[in-house]
Amino acid sequence: MNYQVIYFSRKGSTKKIADAIASELKIEAEDVKNATLDDSAFVFLGSGNYGGRPGKEMITFIEENDFNNVALFGTSGGGMGKEVEEMEKQLHAKNVTVVDRFFCKGKFGLINRTKPNDEDITEAKKFAKKLLNILI
Ligand SMILES: Cc1cc2nc3c(=O)[nH]c(=O)nc-3n(C[C@H](O)[C@H](O)[C@H](O)COP(=O)(O)O)c2cc1C
Repeated sequence: MNYQVIYFSRKGSTKKIADAIASELKIEAEDVKNATLDDSAFVFLGSGNYGGRPGKEMITFIEENDFNNVALFGTSGGGMGKEVEEMEKQLHAKNVTVVDRFFCKGKFGLINRTKPNDEDITEAKKFAKKLLNILI
């Protein structure tokens, strides 16, 4: 099976998670701004949380593409996964199954200055590895 990791990241925290997942899959993560969906791929979609919502480009990307199964990831100041929840709602409305999800805190101005940290990166890699083992 082939995979894609596609992210929206304004400040780099979500990109760190995307890169961790992609490195586990031995591929490069793709910025949603330049990404073209391979519709045979299993796709990891990720975004930061901006006012409770994923990035606009990610919302548009989900709107404009047809997916098989996806896994979601996100980062936010609160670390509660609202951005993932919103992406999941949008995908459910398109009848897309969300197989799994990962979220953690991201750096937000002066708060969470060290996030995502090594532990988050390890957890993100575990998340990718777990899915890889299920999907192979
Ligand atoms: C404009 C803006 C709005 C944000 N709104 C929220 C929010 O509503 N809730 C939250 O938990 N974090 C919020 N954050 C924090 C980001 O979700 C957090 O910094 C995240 O890690 C950003 O991901 P990125 O570095 O990949 O862009 C906001 C950040 C920005 C820049």
